[in-house]
Amino acid sequence: MAIRIPRGWELPESAVTPESVFLNRRQIIQGLAAGSIAAAAPGLAWGATDSDDPSAGLYPVARNERFEPGEGRKLTDEEWATRYNNFYEFGTSKKIWKAAQALKIRPWEVRIDGEVESPRTIAIDDLLSQMPLEERVYRHRCVEAWSMVVPWTGFAFREFVRFANPTANARYVAMETFLDPETAKGQRQDWYPWPYVEGLTMEEANHELAFLVTGLYGKPLPRQNGSPLRLAVPWKYGFKSIKSIVRFTFTTERPVSFWEEMNSREYGFWANVNPAVPHPRWSQATEKDLGTGKRIPTKIFNGYGEWVAALYEGNTDATLYR
Ligand code: MTE
Repeated sequence: MAIRIPRGWELPESAVTPESVFLNRRQIIQGLAAGSIAAAAPGLAWGATDSDDPSAGLYPVARNERFEPGEGRKLTDEEWATRYNNFYEFGTSKKIWKAAQALKIRPWEVRIDGEVESPRTIAIDDLLSQMPLEERVYRHRCVEAWSMVVPWTGFAFREFVRFANPTANARYVAMETFLDPETAKGQRQDWYPWPYVEGLTMEEANHELAFLVTGLYGKPLPRQNGSPLRLAVPWKYGFKSIKSIVRFTFTTERPVSFWEEMNSREYGFWANVNPAVPHPRWSQATEKDLGTGKRIPTKIFNGYGEWVAALYEGNTDATLYR
């Protein structure tokens, strides 16, 4: 049975580290100049391309202009998006980017099983070579009430569904993150139900907005952001956007996700963004824009209501908005 322990997300939003304290840009620039940060992580200064990523030659790719930052929003600075992360496999703080460099991203295989015509395992680079890559600017709204606007590169989830060829019985797709406690120290904490699992309905996975991400800011996805393959479902709280995926299982039953198993009173299956439904311990009415620190009103479905509201018409599930 999972033991309840305090964790980052249980902090009230007001306790989230102020940006000025978390990351002082001048210090970072000075650190880079002095070589201290570069020495700690050779070749991984922000803005640098991950030189060991064999997919680097695929980037950048053309941006699909259908997807925009949103009124009054600007792209978040790259150093914020890549230095302020949630990746519990590497620890519960926001500063896991260095620890995450331990992640071995090749060889990386993706298993496709469950309700599919032919279960298969495919190497990530083979998958990448078969998917139509595009760049999309999406808003990302964490359940902790911070948000960012970033250019993801990847491919539409529905292209992947076509590739996976599920049977007519498939109603959900479950996704799983790698399990490697040797590399990812957070996975040695056995009160968490590792590996991280998330799920979507087939309607959600086939929705135009559902996106499988392989790159960020015109480069391969950094490890701390979920390399080499993660999800982006921008109308849902960020915890749905599972990182470093190794398995897709098409199912008839609704999967139980990592956070739902930890604490189903606070985190549910649907997790659609809704400013009118508070988290049990804090308001979801506003969010803090990462980098500028500006507090802005949160929008229903994170501003993607016109795209996705129809998916939930008549759905009265109690976890629709948590
Ligand atoms: N995926 C895994 N495997 N482990 C995690 O801890 N955190 C989630 C999500 N995906 C998480 C994860 C949460 S809470 C958020 S807000 C986003 O990843 C953060 O993504 P980012 O670090 O790229 O901003």
